[in-house]
Amino acid sequence: MNEKVIAMKKIRWGILSTAKIGVEKVIPAIQASTHSEVMAISSQSLDKARVAATKLGIPKVYGSYEELLDDPDIDAIYNPLPNHLHVDWSVKAIRAGKHVLCEKPIGLSTKEAEQLLAAATAQPELKVMEAFMYRFHPQWQRARQLVDEGAIGNLGAIQSFFSYYNVDAANIRNRTDVGGGGLMDIGCYCLSLSRFIFGAEPRRVMGAMLHDDSFGTDYLTSGLLDFGSGTSVFTCSTQLAPYQRVNILGTTGRIEIEIPFNAPPDQPCRMWLQTNGKLEEIIFATCNQYTLQAEVFCQAILDNTAVPTPLTDAVDNMRVLEGIVESARSGSWVVIS
Ligand SMILES: NC(=O)c1ccc[n+]([C@@H]2O[C@H](COP(=O)([O-])OP(=O)(O)OC[C@H]3O[C@@H](n4cnc5c(N)ncnc54)[C@H](OP(=O)(O)O)[C@@H]3O)[C@@H](O)[C@H]2O)c1
Repeated sequence: MNEKVIAMKKIRWGILSTAKIGVEKVIPAIQASTHSEVMAISSQSLDKARVAATKLGIPKVYGSYEELLDDPDIDAIYNPLPNHLHVDWSVKAIRAGKHVLCEKPIGLSTKEAEQLLAAATAQPELKVMEAFMYRFHPQWQRARQLVDEGAIGNLGAIQSFFSYYNVDAANIRNRTDVGGGGLMDIGCYCLSLSRFIFGAEPRRVMGAMLHDDSFGTDYLTSGLLDFGSGTSVFTCSTQLAPYQRVNILGTTGRIEIEIPFNAPPDQPCRMWLQTNGKLEEIIFATCNQYTLQAEVFCQAILDNTAVPTPLTDAVDNMRVLEGIVESARSGSWVVIS
């Protein structure tokens, strides 16, 4: 283990860009975590970096991402750049000797994700993780535990839905040049949670995608994942009323998660467990899933243990995502594993 890290017991973070998700949610959540110190923020514009730093109380600012990576006082990078820059800048960060927490989806393709995996594998002393924060919320830990313990019998089906309405042409979600689209932005959660709860990869997948005429991005995508022992169906959309819900069904019961993805940091969350006709409401105390994510990531660095979500999981999720796209194009099943 790095002696400097043991002595200070705090991971010194640097932030790539003034992305909205960072400034509004993830940076304050990292700052609230036990072993973190957000030391620097970078931006293409020094002015934007200064504004964000002042708002969030970050001591150092940089007018380029390169300068941040050159800073020897930074241990870990949080990368919330648009999707097309995830792999590129995460690889640069690894080569600069930094641990990396990178936003979802990990990249634009399986091939790209594998490039990141190769870079991370070449420097095993560094921790690299895709920021699927939902997995660290106790409601998902509990859902997985209940399924594994057989609380709902044999797992048979998962149904997930994630939507919002956003027709801002400038938003990265509506731009093909930066890896936008509903499947990349939110459908990736539906794939991730299905693989997490089944604890397996789908054998084959099918997808249907509708594209916006002017943006060129998919605004409504539905998919079917065949896990052999059961199936998962999902719909995601960037142009439907905002809604999110997950249902997990087994032979003797079901689990319903009320706010599966954007679990609020300021109020408790609810899950319903129905077993043999009895309905139980399970309440989860208020918590911030981004802070929990920062805690486990820092702990892995400090203890030099594996991150809870390995990069291979990110590669596997990308493979399923690409399968959905390919199926939507061909109109046929696409074999995954
Ligand atoms: N885990 C979650 O809950 C969650 C939620 C929302 C988004 N996300 C992910 O976080 C990432 C950022 O999303 P966001 O909505 O926060 O994005 P955003 O506000 O549009 O920010 C992206 C930032 O990237 C920088 N950038 C560099 N090159 C760019 C380019 N060619 N076009 C646009 N921006 C560029 C800009 O920062 P500077 O000008 O400062 O350099 C920009 O502010 C995405 O990967 C998204 O999937 C995750």
